[in-house]
Formats: sequence, C-alpha cells, structure tokens
Amino acid sequence: MSATTEIVFMLNGAERRVGVPSTMSTLEMLRDMLGFTGTKYGCGEGECGACTILVDGASVNSCLMFAVDCAGRQVTTIEGLANDPCARVVQDSFVKHGAVQCGFCTPGMVVQSVHLLATHPHPDELSAQRAIEGNICRCTGYKKIVDAIVDAGCAVGDRS
Ligand code: FES
Ligand code: FES
Repeated sequence: MSATTEIVFMLNGAERRVGVPSTMSTLEMLRDMLGFTGTKYGCGEGECGACTILVDGASVNSCLMFAVDCAGRQVTTIEGLANDPCARVVQDSFVKHGAVQCGFCTPGMVVQSVHLLATHPHPDELSAQRAIEGNICRCTGYKKIVDAIVDAGCAVGDRS
C-alpha cells in the first residue's frame, strides 16, 4: 500500500482532514474518497473542464491538481455552490436558455460561470466564450450556454 500524507483543508466551508496518497488527484479525492460526485471525470488530462472546481477562488481543473496540494486551501465544488446566490441565478439562466442537455458538462460550466461573474458581473458574449473555452460540451453547441451566462450576468448585475 502506498504511503499517505495527512492534509487539512476547507471543503465547501467545512474543515476536512484526510490521508491521501502522493499521486492522488484532487478529483479522485473529491469523488472516490469524499463522495462529492458533482465534480465530473471527463478526460483526466485537463482538456474538458468537467472537473472544474474553485481553489482559493480560482477555477482549477481538479484532475490536474494533486490532492496533497489542497492542504491549507479553500476548495469549493458544485455542491458547495448549492446556496450561492450567483450560482442560483446561473442555474436558472441555464434552464431558461435550454443550456443543459445530458448535463455532464453542466457542473463545470456553472462553476466556471460563477468564477467569471465574480470578477465580471456584466460579461459580454466574447467574455462568456473565453470563460468556457476550456470546457467541452458535446450536446448544446455552446450558443445556449453563452446566452445563459450573459443573461445571468444581467441578473447578477441587477442585484448589486
Ligand atoms: S477531467 Fe479534468 S479537464 Fe477533463
Ligand atoms: S449538456 Fe451534454 S455535454 Fe454539455
């Protein structure tokens, strides 16, 4: 059995203390060890964005980050955004615009959108396109997702 390292970090606002193998990815820790399956495994190579999470407020492909590097960090998954006002606006907008089909890409898209809106509350179409350029969707053709993000930005901006 490979040696593990104990790490302490904040996951969705709660302190976690876990022992992780040195080669385990953050995605594997979240899904397989901690049961946070809202974060999806798509490619495992940083190409699809299905595994997007927030680490200290930055969007990260969790398949490319070692779990040990979560030590001392603030990690947020799609589950941690369940009561986030901005995420709710984004999710409502995705529904309104028909931006969800199979839904596999949706958690990563929502996390990426929330990250964008945190710094750009009124994104234009180009900003929305750039924000999700690392997120692959096999179903929607992207236009509905971009429309949903831009529209969500209007709603988020209206609230401030
Ligand atoms: S699973 Fe991480 S980018 Fe595809
Ligand atoms: S809705 Fe199916 S991959 Fe995006």
